Amino acid sequence: MPPGNSQRFSASGEISRCQLSVRATKLVHVGYIPHHRDIGTGFLAASELNRPSHPVDQYQRPLRDLRISVTDRCNFRCPYCMPAEIYGERYEFLPRADILTFEEITRITSLITSLGVSKIRLTGGEPLIRADLPQLIGMLSSIPDVEDLTLTTNGYLLEKFANQLVEAGLQRITVSLDSLDDEVFRKMNGRNFDTEPVLKGIAAAEKAGLSPIKINAVVEKGVNDHTLVELARHFKGSGHIVRFIEFMDVGNLNGWNMEKVVPSREVIDAISAELPPEPIEPNYPGEVARRWRYVDGDGEIGVITSVTEPFCGDCTRARLTTDGNLVTCLFAAGGTDLRGPMRAGASDEELVGLISSTWQDRTDRYSAERTATLNTGDERPRKKIEMYQIGG
Ligand code: GTP
Ligand code: 5AD
Ligand code: SF4
Ligand code: SF4
Repeated sequence: MPPGNSQRFSASGEISRCQLSVRATKLVHVGYIPHHRDIGTGFLAASELNRPSHPVDQYQRPLRDLRISVTDRCNFRCPYCMPAEIYGERYEFLPRADILTFEEITRITSLITSLGVSKIRLTGGEPLIRADLPQLIGMLSSIPDVEDLTLTTNGYLLEKFANQLVEAGLQRITVSLDSLDDEVFRKMNGRNFDTEPVLKGIAAAEKAGLSPIKINAVVEKGVNDHTLVELARHFKGSGHIVRFIEFMDVGNLNGWNMEKVVPSREVIDAISAELPPEPIEPNYPGEVARRWRYVDGDGEIGVITSVTEPFCGDCTRARLTTDGNLVTCLFAAGGTDLRGPMRAGASDEELVGLISSTWQDRTDRYSAERTATLNTGDERPRKKIEMYQIGG
């Protein structure tokens, strides 16, 4: 559905509460019911929208976050991301020459902050297997407008790197850990690894001073859903925040179907039976996780409802692939090549123009559309970038 002068998100009902007029640059609410999941009208004052240095996309969403994939390689083979039977020993990942250098990543990051981005997340593949990663963190943390610098890791190498990451300027960290049950975990990382190195990594991150530490668990029906309460219980009172992610149809190879999704509502119900939580307000507009606090005050958990309650309306995230494509949706088929122009000598102004126009042209709302087509049965297969190429 191409946006017109008077646009109404509808299909899933996710954004239909909010009607927007995008004529000129003035936002008009019609029948708006305030809710943090609605289209990001809470983000910007009308005057701010007029600033060309802060582009908005076709649905008036500003650009706030950049997620940078620093490698397409990973030491795990989670079946929901890089199934081992497909990504075997002979699989050809990107050749070195195609991968952005630290200088190139730093240049793009620095330029994109001039467009309103202040939040940077390093992802992969597994970011800690990129050689000399702390050096990149040092370079990025020196960019004046980078206010929040973080990283998503599977934790396997975290014990080794935690101190170096902090010394380089990393502030906080997110560690993926799908289950504490070794048998389940071995299956879910596809490499037969036990939880021990990851738990040691989390302990090392805490000791090194990374805070907050978030623990991400993808929930897959019949695979790890019987171990979620244990995961919540283990980290309750630790100060770490466990977030349960609905299994998504990222990429083309993970065999996703709706039968494998456990709605976050059911996760909360299961935890409530033993450790009752209550919903709390988001930390910032557009926060991906819905936050819940234990009623006894002993900690917080989150759920990421990307399938059952999509949050495209608030999506301010751009992604930079390992080989330098700027991608405007986790489920996109491709992106805008920045590496080519950069290596051909493009000026800073030209690169900023390219990034800005890419964002301004953006119409992505994949999850909202997916939910709508699941409801109508009108599903059409679509080629998508793989998760390990683009980060979570
Ligand atoms: P904070 O900055 O700590 O709030 O983290 P975050 O929740 O934005 O980031 P994180 O990388 O931890 O996101 C958790 C998971 O949510 C990811 O691994 C993805 O599975 C999913 N996710 C993050 N961003 C998006 C998005 O833009 N679209 C969809 N559909 N899912 C997303
Ligand atoms: N569905 C949901 N989350 C996923 N991740 C990877 N693949 C999927 C998927 N199919 C998450 C990982 C990690 C982050 C990098 O992305 O668990 O937290
Ligand atoms: Fe590696 Fe993360 Fe993908 Fe698992 S989800 S295979 S840890 S990139
Ligand atoms: Fe953003 Fe695309 Fe995810 Fe929607 S599906 S929240 S537009 S990345």
